[in-house]
Amino acid sequence: MNIPKLKIGDLIANVPIIQGGMGVAISRSKLAAAVAKEGAIGVISAAQIGFDQPDFETNTVEANKRALREEIRKAKEMSGNKIIGVNIMVALKNYADYVKVAIEEKIDLIISGAGLPTELPKLVENTNVKIVPIVSSKKAAKVIMEMWEKKFNRRPDAIVVEGPEAGGHLGFKIEELEDIENHNLKDIVHDVLEYLKELKLSIPVIPAGGIFTGRDIAEYLKMGASGVQMATRFVTTHECDASDAYKQAYIDAKKEDIQIIKSPVGMPGRAIRNEFIKRIEVEKDKITKCYGCLRKCNPAEIPYCITKSLVNAVKGNIDDALLFVGSNAYRCDKIISVKELIDLLMLELKEA
Ligand SMILES: Cc1cc2nc3c(=O)[nH]c(=O)nc-3n(C[C@H](O)[C@H](O)[C@H](O)COP(=O)(O)O)c2cc1C
Repeated sequence: MNIPKLKIGDLIANVPIIQGGMGVAISRSKLAAAVAKEGAIGVISAAQIGFDQPDFETNTVEANKRALREEIRKAKEMSGNKIIGVNIMVALKNYADYVKVAIEEKIDLIISGAGLPTELPKLVENTNVKIVPIVSSKKAAKVIMEMWEKKFNRRPDAIVVEGPEAGGHLGFKIEELEDIENHNLKDIVHDVLEYLKELKLSIPVIPAGGIFTGRDIAEYLKMGASGVQMATRFVTTHECDASDAYKQAYIDAKKEDIQIIKSPVGMPGRAIRNEFIKRIEVEKDKITKCYGCLRKCNPAEIPYCITKSLVNAVKGNIDDALLFVGSNAYRCDKIISVKELIDLLMLELKEA
């Protein structure tokens, strides 16, 4: 099939792929810039992005804001000012502060999930930044559309529809994840497209979760999607900001090593079953410090600290870390460049 451009308002990407934001620090400027340079949309994850700033332990929010600013600047510079977005999770305590930094740095788009970004239109008022909620059902799409319309007279510039095969936190109940037959991405995308058709609105719909090949991309484009969001496949690229040990864990993972876990965020997640997961299944981790990252988290009740476990991952201490993955991570078998990956996907898409 012909390769359509992905248009989100006045942003036009020649490659209809958004690289999904990956925290902590799995997608920072290096990955996002490499993706944007190839004509797709590169996305930086804001989650604890300042983990390697000298004052992260003592001044976490300021360290994150500073790092976010620096990473956006670097990504813009390295990509030659191509399309760069930032993923800011609604579950983060200082959500509005990170949105503000992204706007000041003239980010092109803000993508927000892990909760519904109900107040985002207000935060971006009088700017040209595009706003893209992530939803996991038609119901969530309807709630956000109606709420934004009523309160702010504003519509999303695009909608990411994330299904149960995605990596990171998942907008589904554990029982729903065990019954993927009846909760699959294709049906949800179909429902969201129908809903928008009923409203006679043409807002780009961007499926995410488990999309692995150019053929998969073609299937969604044929259904009426405008592009796709992919994350897992970008982990095993040279440019991905993760440690080599993290990338190797993807390459070594077998299908049976990938499991659903409970996260302090209050949503299930998908991760590689490693020593860390085996350990926290039998005993709670000792939490010696709270980084205050989440709106709703009680350190006395949670089995482990999400910040610590994800920072360990990016640092390469992988036996002591939560290694988020999409359900197809076991299919990653080598590390290639972002250019090789995008060329391959586009070739497969053309042939599909
Ligand atoms: C390692 C990893 C970290 C992720 N971190 C985030 C995040 O910080 N915020 C978010 O909204 N989504 C996050 N995601 C979800 C991705 O952005 C993406 O939507 C999803 O993984 C797409 O499915 P795929 O990985 O099968 O391509 C993460 C995914 C992975 C694999």
